[in-house]
Amino acid sequence: TQHYRITLLPGDGIGPEIMAVAVRVLKTISEKFDLSFEFQEALIGGAAIDATGEPLPAATLETCKKSDAVLLAAIGGYKWDTLPRHLRPETGLLGLRSGLHLFANLRPATILPQLIDASTLKREIVEGVDIMVVRELTGGIYFGQPRGIFTTETGEKRGVNTMAYTESEIDRIGRVAFETAQKRSKRLCSVDKANVLEVSQLWRDRMTALAIEYPDVELSHLYVDNAAMQLVRAPKQFDTIVTSNLFGDILSDAAAMLTGSIGMLPSASLGASAPGVYEPVHGSAPDIAGQDKANPLAQVLSAAMMLRYSFNQPDAATHIEQAVLKVLDQGYRTGDIMSEGNTLVGCQAIGDALVAAL
Ligand code: NAD
Ligand code: IPM
Ligand code: MN
Repeated sequence: TQHYRITLLPGDGIGPEIMAVAVRVLKTISEKFDLSFEFQEALIGGAAIDATGEPLPAATLETCKKSDAVLLAAIGGYKWDTLPRHLRPETGLLGLRSGLHLFANLRPATILPQLIDASTLKREIVEGVDIMVVRELTGGIYFGQPRGIFTTETGEKRGVNTMAYTESEIDRIGRVAFETAQKRSKRLCSVDKANVLEVSQLWRDRMTALAIEYPDVELSHLYVDNAAMQLVRAPKQFDTIVTSNLFGDILSDAAAMLTGSIGMLPSASLGASAPGVYEPVHGSAPDIAGQDKANPLAQVLSAAMMLRYSFNQPDAATHIEQAVLKVLDQGYRTGDIMSEGNTLVGCQAIGDALVAAL
């Protein structure tokens, strides 16, 4: 029996609701595949602020470092939106990513055949979409210095953030992207704003230089404004996309809508050695929190990614993904993916159906 220690970070809003479903799924899969999971729950985000005064308590980071993988739901909410930046839930999440050196964020956007009618785009546009966004996660404008709100000589305030990348930061995410593309359709599109930004010029230069080492991968470049447009116009032209932290944040939400709902998109945040963090692309959805309306499938599919990437248990991961398809085949839908002829159910009912399907 393989034994794995998993840190659970339910966080805020719909976080605890969707985490409960993922844990039920993991418990069921552990019996079926003779795996042993030891769950350790820890505080992050608003929940951590309320309990300890900080969004990422040192104990949480320590617990995560000692585990084999971290399953995170979502953080944030209106209640904490007016706190000073260092005390915001989002700062806790960014601290977790940088504290574990998780520089590579893999965000797959795949349209499931069952959800084609849930997409806001036409069937022929989204049918067959299968994109992997490789987002840089510990650099760029999210972490660049200087940053802050300063007072100018004339006494007005000036907000400052800095978009910066070193060559080594670009190269390491570039390598992850080229290797990811090698395992897929061998097409990599690097997205930047090299027509305006020096940091993007360096990004493009390094991606072009790296391409020599991966002759089997076809590298192309797009400016981010055009990439956003192309994603909605003709998404099937994309296979693997590599981009910086901020552009990847925005493009992955756009890519989510190709699949029907942001409630479907999982992600893996990986570093060179530390435990990976598996989290949905969406946030804490405070508008529907506590109402049993959340779609737990992004969370469940994130757990499947954990089994595949951190535990090397592809069969167990595939089994979870098959259960998701089966539940959708049975017609069960949360509101975000509801379409004609299906049955509207809540978050917990999806959990029941998943456990039955497993
Ligand atoms: P959001 O992703 O939380 O919600 C956007 C919209 O999508 C909302 O209408 C919401 O109801 C819906 N939605 C999201 N997930 C869903 C799900 N699983 N099922 C059904 N509907 C779903 O984005 P937001 O409203 O901009 O942000 C809310 C809070 O979440 C903010 O505090 C933000 O900082 C935080 N946030 C956290 C993460 C994270 O923890 N990784 C990611 C994004 C946003
Ligand atoms: C995400 C979120 C986070 C980000 C926020 C909550 C810090 O939007 O994971 O996509 O911007 O990375
Ligand atoms: Mn985001």
